[in-house]
Amino acid sequence: MPANTPFTVTPYSVEGRIDYQQLLEEFGADELTDEQRKRFPGPGHPLVRRQIFYAHRELDRILDAVAAGEQHALVTGRGPSGPMHIGHIIPFYFARYLQQHAGTDVYIPLSDDEKYLLKEQSPASISEHTRANLLDILAVGFDPERTRIVVDSADADVVYPIATVLSKEITQATVDATYGDPPNVGLSFYPAIQATHLLLPQFVDGRQPTLVPIAVDQDPHVRVCRDVAAKERYDVEKPGALLSKFLPGLGGPGKMSSSDDLPSILLSDDRETVHEKIQRHAYSGGRTSVTEHRKKGGNPEIDVAYLLLYYFFEDDDETVERIASEYRNGSLLSGELKARAAEKVADFLERHQQRRHALGLLTDELEAYRLTPEERTRALGRAGYPERSLCRTT
Ligand code: TYM
Repeated sequence: MPANTPFTVTPYSVEGRIDYQQLLEEFGADELTDEQRKRFPGPGHPLVRRQIFYAHRELDRILDAVAAGEQHALVTGRGPSGPMHIGHIIPFYFARYLQQHAGTDVYIPLSDDEKYLLKEQSPASISEHTRANLLDILAVGFDPERTRIVVDSADADVVYPIATVLSKEITQATVDATYGDPPNVGLSFYPAIQATHLLLPQFVDGRQPTLVPIAVDQDPHVRVCRDVAAKERYDVEKPGALLSKFLPGLGGPGKMSSSDDLPSILLSDDRETVHEKIQRHAYSGGRTSVTEHRKKGGNPEIDVAYLLLYYFFEDDDETVERIASEYRNGSLLSGELKARAAEKVADFLERHQQRRHALGLLTDELEAYRLTPEERTRALGRAGYPERSLCRTT
């Protein structure tokens, strides 16, 4: 595709071949530096090392807090409109990594309201997806002491009053300019709900640096929230953001999306299905014949099987480099590369599925992750609702 092809990236539409560099200029975010990459705790996450998380807003606030052992939080969520694919789960595994290595408090909102407003689905269908998605998120293995999960409809007692307060700071003109004309008044209001998610750790536990690791499509929500947080009437910091590129769909570099024509790799796929989807559909950077491939080699940069390994599914940098060079020099064939990627993805999914199957009833499992009555009261208090307010006493 020629350079400067138009593309769109908003929370509600991702189209065209994304120029990630250009997007930074449009969004006004900063590129991650080597120095910042080195400051991440633990052995370093491949998503950071390999620049899949490639941009940020005020990341140093969090990195400073991590280095000083100070309280800090992370918020990353899910809009439950269908089964989760392997792209959706990436921010959650990254959140778990930070929690394990830096004691991060993790907040996970599920925007069932947003997806009802956006998709042609009944409340019953969204509710089923919410339940299934929650099991997948629980299977990631967060520490219940340091993790809170909120579902907009189920935690409306705390989410709605705070969103109401915040919504007064967001004009319709801002919504139109940031997201395009919303198709209904519900989606006009929704940015106030996602702003509530992003500020929730600070409403619950007081002012603290907060990081939002997301793919770039969600950045507009962060921008709106940061403007709201800048108003002096709230004692909160602007949340920072860590922005990732999209895990590619099977059809080629671009976003893996449930609405693609080609299938996505779902968290529920078994080994055989993963092999079948990758062998049959993954866009290949190999040559048309084995002889030509052996002679001229393939191009890993556009090869989806390779990109899956590079983005997330092969931890070891040396192995990734070896695979790339063997592919380039023609000794590794496209079918072989696909088989390797499929094995790695299937291994990952098998471990995920085992943890998911080991879970009990959703309502029981969720209990330890819900906001406590004290946390709800504190959050509403910080949003300005007095002690006698009915929303704080029911
Ligand atoms: P949703 O459900 O569309 O996506 C969930 C998360 O996955 C990211 N994502 C991807 N990451 C890498 N590669 C991909 N192909 C890919 N596709 C999606 C999304 O950027 C997102 O981080 N409105 C949100 C849910 C939400 C939320 C929040 C997210 C509600 N409150 C607060 C972050 C913080 C949504 O619909 O995400």
